[in-house]
Amino acid sequence: SELFGIIGNPIEHSLSPLIQNKAYQSHHIDAHFQAFHVEYQDLETAIKGMKTLGIKGFIVTVPFKAKVIPYLDEIDQTAQKTKAVNIVHMIDGKYVGYNFDGKAHLEALLEDMGIQSLSNQHILIIGAGGAAQSIYYTLSQFKDIKIDIANRTKEKAKILKDIGVNVKNTNVISLAEAENKHIQYDIIIQTTSIGMWPETDKSPINISHLKPGTFVSDIIYNPSETKILKQAHENGARTQNGKKMLALQNALAIEMWTGKKVDYNVMLQTLNEALS
Ligand code: ATR
Repeated sequence: SELFGIIGNPIEHSLSPLIQNKAYQSHHIDAHFQAFHVEYQDLETAIKGMKTLGIKGFIVTVPFKAKVIPYLDEIDQTAQKTKAVNIVHMIDGKYVGYNFDGKAHLEALLEDMGIQSLSNQHILIIGAGGAAQSIYYTLSQFKDIKIDIANRTKEKAKILKDIGVNVKNTNVISLAEAENKHIQYDIIIQTTSIGMWPETDKSPINISHLKPGTFVSDIIYNPSETKILKQAHENGARTQNGKKMLALQNALAIEMWTGKKVDYNVMLQTLNEALS
């Protein structure tokens, strides 16, 4: 039996063990998934220990996504660009780090929108933190996509813009500007922690007039419907929360670690049950 895991601090509320173990069970994968609480000063020792014990794969979460990089043997291009790793896989005895946040978000977005490409879309990304980095980097690879990044701290949004692939179509704006012009967007992606349980009455911008057909995506999955999604919904938009992104992310990790394709719906359903 293989052992996989997640490292973070705090980690006790992570839903990864629940959904990963559920996926192993339903796909007859002989493995177990464990959450590991790691103290800040013990990160290097923890990674060395996992390597020594032959742990073939693990997820990295807050606050170690950037800090883990010096202790890995290699990282992929997205991880290099975003300076963050969230999935690690042992290949030939080496720990290789990947960042699948953007890929998982994009897959979830395309699927829920029912489209193949984001070319020619006008997109608003709210936030410029860790999650925004990977999402923006992935989206910036589409041709003819127009992206506005709105963040409380404009400097951080400017730094984020520069990691993009086609930066000429990216603009940095304030949250107030984003609120004023939100009617212009085809897609709005909320990547900050604002609105997350227990502060469910908060929203980064108020939504009152959306263009018909606008799609609003929030990466938060608890609550299922954040204030911004609720407003978007009330204004006729189609919406998605972060559950599918999380399930897809976990499915990508299992596929990489075990070579087995798992149905992410098993994990999505487990998340829905756990968070209803
Ligand atoms: P994560 O890795 O989860 O994205 P992060 O890197 O700390 O976390 O980024 C958090 C994001 O939420 C940032 O865009 C942050 O804005 P700043 O760059 O101005 O800090 C945003 N954010 C968090 N709390 C906020 C608040 N109360 N108002 C506005 N923006 C907030």
